[in-house]
Amino acid sequence: MSAELNPIKEVQAAIAAFEREFERFARFTAGEVSAKDADAEQRALAELRTKHLGKKSAIAAAKKLIGRVASDQRASFGQLVQQTEARISESIGQVEQALKAQIDAAKIERESIDITIPGHRPQPGHLHPITLMCQRIEDIFVSLGYAVEDDREIETDFYNFDALNIPEGHPARDPQDTLYTTEGFALRSQTSTVQIHAMQRRGAPVRMIAPGRVFRRDTPDPTHNPMFYQVEGLCVDRGITMAHLKGTLAEFVHRLFGPETKTRFRPSYFPFTEPSAEVDYSCFSCGGSGCRICKHSGWIELGGSGMVHPNVLRAANVDTSEFTGFAFGLGIDRTCARIYQLDDIRLLFENDVRFLEQFR
Ligand code: FA5
Repeated sequence: MSAELNPIKEVQAAIAAFEREFERFARFTAGEVSAKDADAEQRALAELRTKHLGKKSAIAAAKKLIGRVASDQRASFGQLVQQTEARISESIGQVEQALKAQIDAAKIERESIDITIPGHRPQPGHLHPITLMCQRIEDIFVSLGYAVEDDREIETDFYNFDALNIPEGHPARDPQDTLYTTEGFALRSQTSTVQIHAMQRRGAPVRMIAPGRVFRRDTPDPTHNPMFYQVEGLCVDRGITMAHLKGTLAEFVHRLFGPETKTRFRPSYFPFTEPSAEVDYSCFSCGGSGCRICKHSGWIELGGSGMVHPNVLRAANVDTSEFTGFAFGLGIDRTCARIYQLDDIRLLFENDVRFLEQFR
């Protein structure tokens, strides 16, 4: 062995260098300390392995010297190199395993699902009280043989006024009552417009109801909205009289509020019916003796009605010598408010979830 080369010292120096650098990794072995960033530590450890066991490491250099060591010391030197390499490799391997275990555990933790946590059940929607009311009304009239019509909300002057016997200059054309869109068009102020469409489409005889939205320049208050729902009813046939109108609406309130409910017809005026009547029904809550719901009158207003004016039949090309008919228009919002005991119909369109949820 040459005097300047001391391979044993080289190996011991390599061991010392490894141990200094390995010290900070040793604590991760077998879960003693968990690494803050195990991935970064794993990369640093791979560099340590290359440095101390790779081709350019002190151990690799020592291996090359084995042949040059004196023959009587060669075996023990070779053993030293081998044992050192095995020791470094084993130390690094242990930390590698510890870090891998930490990485795997963190991944499982991250990706695991706790099936015992209560889920979020999506809230199913439900129907609006006005829709529920419309459905109840439709069910009753369909069972009485009426078709259900749905029609436009923007109308021409002809359907809104002329055909309903409201000629130009008639006070019922007062712009206060209607919201105009463009000239000659207006948002319908009543569902009576559907009477004309239905008779034009179906001819006579015809029996239909038409629930839908109407618009008026009314100031909102507990019983008024500028947008509200009505249901129109029309029955045109041979020999139809006021008795049929009374019987039909009496049957309707019996089915909606109970068989003991009475109806009352008060003379009124509508340009499109003659004679005309306001219809009331006896209060479903007190039976007519007077209570908060009927404002102590015993009666609740249902809507307007009457025998279809011959001018209206003519405007829809129905032969007035053969056919007569009755019509009615009932306010759905107010009826809905009475049934559900709401003090204010504006609640129906405020979209307050706390209110609407009660109809689930
Ligand atoms: C009419 O609208 C007539 N078209 C009814 C009719 C049809 C008569 C067929 C004859 C033949 P009236 O303007 O009274 O009638 O309205 C009918 C119902 O609508 C009222 O009884 C009321 O319940 C409801 N109503 C009227 N204005 C409002 C409003 N601003 N807000 C909520 N409901 C209203």
